Amino acid sequence: MSQSKLKKIGVFTSGGDAPGMNAAIRAVVRTANYYNIECLGIRSGYNGLINGEVIKLGPRSVKNIINQGGTMLKSARSDEFRTEEGRKKAYEQCRAHGINALVCIGGDGTFTGAKVFSEEYGVQVIGVPGTIDNDIFGTDFTIGYDTALNTAVEAIDKIRDTATSHNRVFFVEVMGRDAGFIALNSGIASGALDILIPEQKDSIKDLFQVFRDAAKRGKTSSIVVVAEGEKMATTYELAEQTKKEFPDFDIRVAILGHIQRGGTPSCADRVLASRLGYGAVEGLRKGLTNVMAGIQANQLVFTPIEDAIKKHNEINQDLLKIAEILAL
Ligand code: F6P
Repeated sequence: MSQSKLKKIGVFTSGGDAPGMNAAIRAVVRTANYYNIECLGIRSGYNGLINGEVIKLGPRSVKNIINQGGTMLKSARSDEFRTEEGRKKAYEQCRAHGINALVCIGGDGTFTGAKVFSEEYGVQVIGVPGTIDNDIFGTDFTIGYDTALNTAVEAIDKIRDTATSHNRVFFVEVMGRDAGFIALNSGIASGALDILIPEQKDSIKDLFQVFRDAAKRGKTSSIVVVAEGEKMATTYELAEQTKKEFPDFDIRVAILGHIQRGGTPSCADRVLASRLGYGAVEGLRKGLTNVMAGIQANQLVFTPIEDAIKKHNEINQDLLKIAEILAL
């Protein structure tokens, strides 16, 4: 799309929410306004696009949200948009409201929808990576990851206090359906004895050995951080199996869950979201489509949405080694 045709854009958040999404919306709206581009907010992700739930957004509509968790536009995972019929309705709404470009803030599900939609109907789309999981290729960090990580570390620190007082073993589950970024980094930051992530093949025997070695070194309490998507077993099963092997262990499980998705976004997330929201509008102005805005090596970059969906951010192997060495 040429620059002159970019008159009205729609922005929405979709998929699991992430702290900093509001800061991204604000950046999109204010950058658009700076360039005299109208901006409509679409509520509840693709469902709102299908149902025409749009609101006009100007610089003042996004005041006082940079510091708010959640998303003022609400978010959803839309089954209807997966259907041709749903996407047709969405396109009709785009036409009815004069929207010729979309900024889609979310994760890989959001980007898959955007890609299909733009290929079917030629609507210009640009993705902004917003998910606490940090599992999107094409950006060093996703919006919400830093905040979630800090939330997890704060919670694990508290668990450590009580674990130490009672000489207990805690299995702490953190979010990450398919990715271990939160687990690995929160585990290192909180001094976990072991960290179990889906990207690594784990074995229960190895885990038991870690416990034995720790006992030999005189450890009386320990924390094992488990990613939600760990493949070996569920966190409760791991705790049960460990109890069978070590009947003397006093074991507890803590599932941190959705607290990791909420809360005031960290400074890093606000700055990242501001840069990406701005970058998305700049990308649209350049005529880019079917790409995702990301930050790599501190530079704004655009990655084909297809790559962002198909490829994966690799876990840093050094971190795994560091985690093992420092747990001694
Ligand atoms: O994708 C982000 C995420 O928080 C994952 O870590 C988690 O598995 C999932 O969303 C939870 O989704 P829901 O909020 O639908 O239960």
